[in-house]
Amino acid sequence: MRIVSFLFLFIILTACKKETTPDVKDVKKEITEKNDVVRFRESYRPQYHFTPPEKWMNDPNGLLFHNGTYHLFYQYYPEDIVWGPMHWGHATSKDLVSWKHQPIALYPDELGYIFSGSAVMDLENTSGLGSKDNPPMIAIFTHHEPKGEKEGKNDFQYQSIAYSLDEGNTWTKYEGNPVIGNPTSIRDFRDPKVMWHEASQKWILTLVAGDHAKFYSSPDLKSWTYLSDFGKDKGAHGGVWECPDLFPLTVAGSDETKWVLLISINPGAPNGGSGTQYFVGDFDGTTFTTSQKDIKWIDYGSDNYAGVTYNGLPDSDRTFIGWMSNWNYAQKTPTENWRSAMTLSRKLTLHKNDTYYLKSYPVAAIDEYSYDSKTYDSITNKYSLTSENFNEMRIDFEIEGALEDFEVKFSNVANDQLFLGYHKEDHSFYVDRRKSGKIDFEPRFAEKIHLAPARTDKNDHTRFSIFLDASSVEFFVDQGTTTMTEQIFPTQPYTVMTFTSKDHKMTQVRVSKMKRIWE
Ligand code: FRU
Repeated sequence: MRIVSFLFLFIILTACKKETTPDVKDVKKEITEKNDVVRFRESYRPQYHFTPPEKWMNDPNGLLFHNGTYHLFYQYYPEDIVWGPMHWGHATSKDLVSWKHQPIALYPDELGYIFSGSAVMDLENTSGLGSKDNPPMIAIFTHHEPKGEKEGKNDFQYQSIAYSLDEGNTWTKYEGNPVIGNPTSIRDFRDPKVMWHEASQKWILTLVAGDHAKFYSSPDLKSWTYLSDFGKDKGAHGGVWECPDLFPLTVAGSDETKWVLLISINPGAPNGGSGTQYFVGDFDGTTFTTSQKDIKWIDYGSDNYAGVTYNGLPDSDRTFIGWMSNWNYAQKTPTENWRSAMTLSRKLTLHKNDTYYLKSYPVAAIDEYSYDSKTYDSITNKYSLTSENFNEMRIDFEIEGALEDFEVKFSNVANDQLFLGYHKEDHSFYVDRRKSGKIDFEPRFAEKIHLAPARTDKNDHTRFSIFLDASSVEFFVDQGTTTMTEQIFPTQPYTVMTFTSKDHKMTQVRVSKMKRIWE
């Protein structure tokens, strides 16, 4: 009887314990989740753009689509909110808008910091680092050796690889690193972008070497053969060439295929500091050639740098992500726990009229994030709309007739004012953030109005989209024919939008809230 009652008591106690003492792991998880929610409401934390959980981020790296998942790796320093010894952070997405943070993928090692680079799926196991049944995911990056740099040497950057056999969760550095050394001591020798070149059945690697790009080929991602140089006498040269990307695109509405070479450059961008130029030409498996005479920029705003495109997607879905900052002030922006965001993921398309040009516009999935849309047939001169928070909104509108001056102003009770519009006199679109909120953390942030030469699709009808987030504005004309991306730091959310034009009305206006991605 005594044993029975003991047993009874034991069962009751165990049952109670189960109910009242949650698993330690669950508690931890709950706290982390709560922290995430709190943390992601800090002032200026973008609500539908990618940001790291905390600390410093710069370039997107290793953009790769595989098995239904988009991988985004990025230059990451997990100890501070300024640049430091580089790691590769990692995040994944199912739709290129909402992201899940993943553990850090690559840590600095005895060969150096882990600088920018790319990733591929080696499906045929050409590298032998996996198997045909479990092909390796391979990251190709620059090792930057800080000691050599400090000692004034010039050979401290070289290219290395790492592989993952579990979809990017854990990584092993290749024991034969570096795979491309730096025997001729090129000081800036970095940012390898690799792709599979169908025509020559080889891997092609593009990297930058100060003032030009270099191409290499390989059968196995481990042994590389130098092919050619491009660009010493082409394009913009106001700064160092960085983060190249080479890919084919078919000209919209035709069956003509051209090759596009993206080259980021810092400084030397049209509105100061960092920017990304591109060349349209041909690539025959060995050399890139172009007859392009003018300098083309993917974005005329100040905050779209080091952008590259996804591997693993069909060429008709060429998708681009850029770092939404500028080395002129990136390390001084007024955020506390983290620094920098990525641009919205954008689809790139190639077009031709008098010349070849790229359009870049947010991927279709972004439309799923608009809600509570309000539409207006027209908005006339000096008309204002109010909202609780324009900084989590998207505004689409159209303008009929040949473009004359117009301006859209976003403002708040603190009298912060952001202006976007068109200046007929110099045929330019513009973003003026000189009074947009906090601007005094670095003089070059709000030194001048930023201009973009006005390129539109038609002469008598123009479409506009403005995406505002807590600390950014992305301005698209005609689905990305002209694009401007800018950081802004309003002291409070903008609550008023005012349209001004002597000649135009805004038509087909749609003002939508944007869903938050961190919930
Ligand atoms: C571009 C860049 C790259 C380099 C990386 C280092 O922003 O300078 O050229 O690999 O950042 O973080």
